[in-house]
Amino acid sequence: MNQLARNTQQQLANYYRCFLGDPAQLVAAQRSVRLTRNIVECLEDEWTAAEERLIDLRELPTTKEAFLPWYVMCEKKINEDIRFFVDFMRHQACAEQVAYYICMEEMVDGSFDDLMAVAQLGMPIHCKMIAGENYWDEMGNGDFAAVHTTMFRTSSSYMRDLLGRSGISAEEPPLECLMNGNLLLMWAVRREYNMRLIGAMGLVEGSAPVRFGATTAAMERLGLPKDVIAYHKAHISIDTRHSAAWYETVLQHYAACGEDVVRELSLGVMIRYNVALRYYHYMYKTMRGLG
Ligand SMILES: [Fe+2]
Ligand SMILES: [Fe+2]
Repeated sequence: MNQLARNTQQQLANYYRCFLGDPAQLVAAQRSVRLTRNIVECLEDEWTAAEERLIDLRELPTTKEAFLPWYVMCEKKINEDIRFFVDFMRHQACAEQVAYYICMEEMVDGSFDDLMAVAQLGMPIHCKMIAGENYWDEMGNGDFAAVHTTMFRTSSSYMRDLLGRSGISAEEPPLECLMNGNLLLMWAVRREYNMRLIGAMGLVEGSAPVRFGATTAAMERLGLPKDVIAYHKAHISIDTRHSAAWYETVLQHYAACGEDVVRELSLGVMIRYNVALRYYHYMYKTMRGLG
């Protein structure tokens, strides 16, 4: 992975931040967004083709009966594949190492509410209700202090300060971290890929409780303040509930929508799987280098 690839991913990240940003700021950016869109779509298409080349389409499920058990297996297997990372986090990681991880997680956790907002567009009502409930949880069920992105930023800004005091910068995310966030954002802004987003959101939330459990254990072991731990601790149970509901309703529904839909759903799960795996391998290596 080279500098050119990192610059490309940084360009995509900048575009998504602007495109999914405050509409008031988009007023000034109207022209640049329009001018950049074609370039961004070319970069996205190249990236998509590269990810698809890594996958043997013949191994992906094409029916509901095949998809559902395959999906459950993926949810379990990803945490087995990154057990080295999870165990390291739980038992060994020092404060700086945990802090670096949490700051890099901002790529996904920092915009999860907007991803969920987009994922529900156009869904049939019984699926939209599940996505809507999930979204309302993201909004803290109306309690400003319990908005998930706010809770996350309480944690990440504490961790960023902690890194700063140790002279470690988290301001220029590496390629693997940019890809980890950009993948979901790309599938959100490109509505033709929303089915991939729906598959990937299942995998993200379904596999998250194990990692949230390990991160919470690490932060408790290190004696960090309760409000810094609160986001991760709460999500052990919240995402268990979210992913169960996603599976029971949303994935069950779309898995029954025919071969083409199941292929997109499966591609979303599989590409997410691969990008996440590369991310955790990278994070393990980098975090160990900080210790
Ligand atoms: Fe959340
Ligand atoms: Fe969630």
